[in-house]
Amino acid sequence: MSNIKVGIIGLGRLGKVHAGNLAFRVPNCELYAACSMVEAELEYAKKELGVTKTYANYDEMVKDPELDAIFIVSPSGLHCEQIQKAMENGKHVFSEKPIGLDVAEIEKTMAVIDAHPEQIFMLGFMRRYDADYQYAKEMVEKGELGELTVVRCYGIDPSDGMESFVKFAGASNSGGLFADMSIHDIDLVRWFTNQEVKKVWALGKNAAYKQLDEVGELETGAAMLQMADKTMGILVAGRNCHHGYHVETELIGTKGMLRIAQVPEKNLVTIMNEHGVVRPTSQNFPERFSQAFVNETAEFINCIKEKRQPGVNANDGLQSTKVAIACQKSYEEDELVSLSDIK
Ligand SMILES: NC(=O)c1ccc[n+]([C@@H]2O[C@H](COP(=O)([O-])OP(=O)(O)OC[C@H]3O[C@@H](n4cnc5c(N)ncnc54)[C@H](O)[C@@H]3O)[C@@H](O)[C@H]2O)c1
Repeated sequence: MSNIKVGIIGLGRLGKVHAGNLAFRVPNCELYAACSMVEAELEYAKKELGVTKTYANYDEMVKDPELDAIFIVSPSGLHCEQIQKAMENGKHVFSEKPIGLDVAEIEKTMAVIDAHPEQIFMLGFMRRYDADYQYAKEMVEKGELGELTVVRCYGIDPSDGMESFVKFAGASNSGGLFADMSIHDIDLVRWFTNQEVKKVWALGKNAAYKQLDEVGELETGAAMLQMADKTMGILVAGRNCHHGYHVETELIGTKGMLRIAQVPEKNLVTIMNEHGVVRPTSQNFPERFSQAFVNETAEFINCIKEKRQPGVNANDGLQSTKVAIACQKSYEEDELVSLSDIK
């Protein structure tokens, strides 16, 4: 089989990372086309990434007979419709998280995906393809921690992104803090425990950027999840981390506990100077998860070549979005929310 030809939509913060990986770092594929409404992004794709074709119209790109697969890295509210169109035009599809922001729309999209079982669909929960998370998952599966009782997760974005976040908050179409940020941790709790979430209770506070109150966005949120077997998930998500990009996960079991990235280390360097003993930290998601992004894309391409579906599927998208919606509802209505009430 020749190289898989991929077309990408969205060349923003993450789109550029995926596009660079498809063009230069993932074997057996070619970044053949790019779609954006922003001319400068298409120029970038042609000049820096060497793409053959550029499109201003997504409906035209998905009809390109040269393309085998579509990579969706557009704003979250557009994913469902774009997945459906790509599937209906016979393409394999990789979509960034979240799969969508509305349960009915996601279910409709899943029906379209299910109607095309010969085409590959993969969702971008890249932490599952990070070596440290895979190591931890293996320990859990081997029973090294015993039965899990608590999964605690921190996912806090660097505060240097706050200025632009505050500016574009209303238009960002992120779905809110829980759908945008906690969704990775929700997926990890489901992945590590092999359990679905039953109930959630979520809280939030805007302190450094009180302007976020006016646009209905959260700076810091916390949620407690109760899984079907009573395992507890404790999530903290935020957008105001001063030391960089803090993603940390702790698993507590009956036989032991483990922590992933307790200190979000950038590398193995320790600096001793007038500030004391300093450990450099990861500054953003492309840096912390650079290899995980390559690994997940390589897995998508391998799945196409080997005609098998990947481990992260549309149902993982549906379940995680439902939990994020439940967290948002719990925060807004100040009450415990059962997942059975999220339709
Ligand atoms: N896996 C992760 O850790 C991770 C990290 C960041 C973002 N994401 C996800 O990736 C997606 C993109 O996020 P981002 O931070 O790169 O956003 P961004 O705002 O930086 O980029 C969005 C891109 O979509 C394009 N776009 C905007 N409106 C469009 C429209 N109506 N039609 C077509 N294209 C349009 C923009 O031109 C831009 O290229 C989001 O769904 C986000 O949740 C995932």
